Amino acid sequence: MSLKEIRNPKILQQEMARLRDRRIVIGFVPTMGALHRGHGALISRARRESEIVVVSIFVNPTQFGPREDYRRYPRPVAQDRKLLLSHEVDYLFQPSVRAMYPEGFATTVEVGGDGQRFSLSNVLCGQFRPGHFRGVATIVTKLFHLVGPCRAYFGAKDYQQSVIVRRLIKDLNLDIQLRVLPTVREKDGLAISSRNHSLNPKERERARTLSGTLFWLRDEIRLGRRNLAGLHRQAFERLRRGVDRVDYLEIVDPESLCRLTKVQPKMVALTACHVGKTRLIDNVIIRLFKKD
Ligand code: PAF
Repeated sequence: MSLKEIRNPKILQQEMARLRDRRIVIGFVPTMGALHRGHGALISRARRESEIVVVSIFVNPTQFGPREDYRRYPRPVAQDRKLLLSHEVDYLFQPSVRAMYPEGFATTVEVGGDGQRFSLSNVLCGQFRPGHFRGVATIVTKLFHLVGPCRAYFGAKDYQQSVIVRRLIKDLNLDIQLRVLPTVREKDGLAISSRNHSLNPKERERARTLSGTLFWLRDEIRLGRRNLAGLHRQAFERLRRGVDRVDYLEIVDPESLCRLTKVQPKMVALTACHVGKTRLIDNVIIRLFKKD
């Protein structure tokens, strides 16, 4: 089957319902385009596990803050289409902003809210990007609603997003099987991201600081260091020396995202840093008793 492109949400919804009537298993990969090897891994897995693979490309304006890079966000349409064809994707859903947010649009979805002192959406990236996860939760809910029951594939690089989406699926009883796949990295450890292309060669070199620091932290804990506060101080200093600004470095519980003061069997260390004009995020899972 060749790549079928759909722009109209209603048509996607009807087409998906028709497939499901025939008991066809749908794999869905939501993206904002500028597709790379990380997306490729999600699509390949969806391809292996589903009869029909749907990819959405929608640069969602509501998840960008007023001073963020919505307008600058890369949109390499022809290159994206090539990747989708090479991965034998069946459907590309590429709606317009107006189709997803029609005149008078007034409904949002928020996992935890501003009213809550601590919520999955207002810690970590949420602290630095107010409203970001409301935008993500709203668009993901809409996309899930249009595609309908399916397997949905997300990357672990956006760790906080994956935790929020898991919560959303549970809280709203959505018939979605969530698959979160490991971060795909360059040879030197840098997590693959659409934003890496904005880095000049010197910045690209310094961008390695994020993964380098997280791996160092993980290894120190595995080697038996237990003083999280001391480790955090040292790791923060490493980041500060390598990047232009550190938004945060945190070691948290993998589900609640609460900051940890003591080591526990499974933890996640996350960071967001600015290198030049580019904001990068990364994370590692730290298991005390098992090798990653
Ligand atoms: O991870 C992304 O690319 C986006 O946040 C998503 C899930 C496609 C929603 O716009």
